[in-house]
Amino acid sequence: MKILLTGGAGFIGSHTCVELCQAGHEAVIVDNYVNSSPEAVRRVEKIVRHPVVCYEADVRDAAAMNRIFDEHSFDAVIHFAGLKAVGESVAQPLRYYRNNLDSTLTLMEVMQAHGVKRIVFSSSATVYGNQPVVPYREDMPSLGCTNPYGWTKFMIEKILEGQAAADPEWSVVLLRYFNPIGAHASGLIGEDPSGIPNNLMPYIAKVAVGELDHLNVFGNDYPTKDGTGVRDYIHVVDLARGHVLACGYAAEHTGSEIINLGTGVGYSVLDLVHTFDRVNNVHIPYVIAPRRAGDIAENYADPSKALALLGWKAEKNLEDMCRDTYHFQTLNPKGYHGSAGV
Ligand code: NAD
Ligand code: UFG
Repeated sequence: MKILLTGGAGFIGSHTCVELCQAGHEAVIVDNYVNSSPEAVRRVEKIVRHPVVCYEADVRDAAAMNRIFDEHSFDAVIHFAGLKAVGESVAQPLRYYRNNLDSTLTLMEVMQAHGVKRIVFSSSATVYGNQPVVPYREDMPSLGCTNPYGWTKFMIEKILEGQAAADPEWSVVLLRYFNPIGAHASGLIGEDPSGIPNNLMPYIAKVAVGELDHLNVFGNDYPTKDGTGVRDYIHVVDLARGHVLACGYAAEHTGSEIINLGTGVGYSVLDLVHTFDRVNNVHIPYVIAPRRAGDIAENYADPSKALALLGWKAEKNLEDMCRDTYHFQTLNPKGYHGSAGV
């Protein structure tokens, strides 16, 4: 299949591009690099050993998107493009709604106009809200979101489901990711956040290479096994494989499906820290800090629907996630910029 990846230069998009190419598909990227670098695409080309067509454009730019769709005959689109920082979305709600919603509406209109009616979308476990029970199942009604970023995911799910309901030729797969971490085993591509990371694993990785002094553990008084927050961390390469299978599913079905991509196992903040220390033979200093506003105690996925519909399940464990993250970080201590390249 020939597949367009919006936001394909980003963390999850770049790994998915590799998995698609290695599964024999043709991937084309469109990205405006608002949170990524063309260097990521060069690294992808190095891994897959062939060029990857990549357009620098904003998905909200209908003229640019129409030109891309005129030049290629796509079988499906994977829509990664979006702004994703929760805290930033609280500070800049209009920017988040404008970017994430406009890009989706423009993309859907251009797809419709070109008769491309298969889309796989990057949704998030954040859409569930704070459920009283774990694991999270796709048939649980959303309890609402706690920030504008989450609401954009919620609204985009509704937009895509609405289109699938209106036109029976559409196929929509809404992938609800849990907590993607890790990096490609080559160490060539990985997560490269700008500034001080908000998320746990990128923060730990920067402490590990001495760029940050210590980790703040946000609360140790949650009702969890060690008092720290529990999440379902999923290796980005497993997540990327899920997208390849989701494209195959979309090619054979119409309608819309919500599918969790998680391991089904919850690990605490301290589980992550201790596993990172052990597998990488390093020491991550940490202090217990107050709870972070908006955090929940525990979430993890019920991943059985992904197995039933896609034949997907996570294969990599927490040790792989910690090892591969550290490998990327040590080879690229300053991310894609300023690294010697590998
Ligand atoms: P990322 O920021 O690395 O990738 C997103 C890419 O989209 C970036 O390359 C960015 O430059 C691009 N982009 C943003 N707006 C654009 C626009 N208007 N036009 C063109 N390109 C644009 O993030 P990621 O971690 O790879 O996440 C990919 C998707 O998955 C996002 O939609 C994100 O919200 C979603 N998601 C991520 C996580 C996570 O923890 N990483 C969890 C759940 C869902
Ligand atoms: N944490 C720390 N210290 C840090 C960063 C995080 O202790 O410096 C803790 C958090 O309190 C939480 C856990 O580590 O218990 C994971 O936090 P992350 O920020 O890595 O991830 P979240 O689960 O808060 O958020 C992620 C994605 C969001 C998405 C959300 C819900 O980053 O985009 O999952 O699916 F909305």
